[in-house]
Amino acid sequence: MISYREAASAKLNLSLNVLERLPDGYHTLESVMHTVSLHDDVDLAITEEGDWQIRGEGLPIPLNETNLAWKAAEIYFRDSGFRPGLRIHIHKRIPSQAGLGGGSADAAAVFRILNRHYGLYDEAQMIEKAMQAGSDVPFCLAGGAKLVRGRGEILSDVPPLQQASFLIVKPFCACSTAALFRAIDEEPERPAADTQALCDAMKRGALRDVGALLRNAFEPVACRLYPEIAEVLDQLRSSNCLGAILTGSGSACYSLYENALEAQMAAKIFQEKGLQCFCASSNETD
Ligand code: C5P
Repeated sequence: MISYREAASAKLNLSLNVLERLPDGYHTLESVMHTVSLHDDVDLAITEEGDWQIRGEGLPIPLNETNLAWKAAEIYFRDSGFRPGLRIHIHKRIPSQAGLGGGSADAAAVFRILNRHYGLYDEAQMIEKAMQAGSDVPFCLAGGAKLVRGRGEILSDVPPLQQASFLIVKPFCACSTAALFRAIDEEPERPAADTQALCDAMKRGALRDVGALLRNAFEPVACRLYPEIAEVLDQLRSSNCLGAILTGSGSACYSLYENALEAQMAAKIFQEKGLQCFCASSNETD
């Protein structure tokens, strides 16, 4: 038996534009994504043959073939001629249905481990496999900071933020990505993120400008469907932050700070209300 461990980092959308609705109902996107220090740990033990098992600790996860980590393994081995025994263990910290890419991060960790072990696929093939697991999985495979386009499969490098601190707050409501995409189709107008200006600010390392440019097209519709999200965002914005937005299709929201202490101070009010809060850094290894 050979065992591997991978960190599966949460992602934040610093910007998100929903562009075109395609004939199959999917949408093209343009989003700057950034991994942060909040992460799950994925352990994978591989035996030559045997059954597959999945176990978890921390936050609850599905312990069967519906888990995206399991699906990733299915996708990896499809048509490969390999069918080893697998033991997947996930230490879950990233809340689900939050827009933090938690399930996608676990799936990406499984893909990375399996390709390290078997080396069956090149980068382009891995992106293609990752897309079969979900639109955020190609980004989670790469990590860091990326401009993500298409349905999530076109990635280009953006300089990661240095020493930025985030407060991530998860409202009690959970958002369905599919429902939010349906709702946004009905919106006459969406707030547009200035992706180019955001990328330029990241290149300059201008954190204040980054804070002012945070923008997510889902935010108005999510705030209308879930007033609790609007409340959390108002409270985040009244802290000493450089900016605050919804991440992905929600329901988690986050604010950006120049230092960790400010994020910790701002967390108190949410902790008192019993909301899940995470102080995270732009540096994955913190
Ligand atoms: O790819 P993922 O499983 O995250 O997508 C969940 C749902 O969100 C899809 O079934 C689809 O309805 C919607 N979606 C979309 N366009 C995308 C990504 C997701 O319409 N680019």
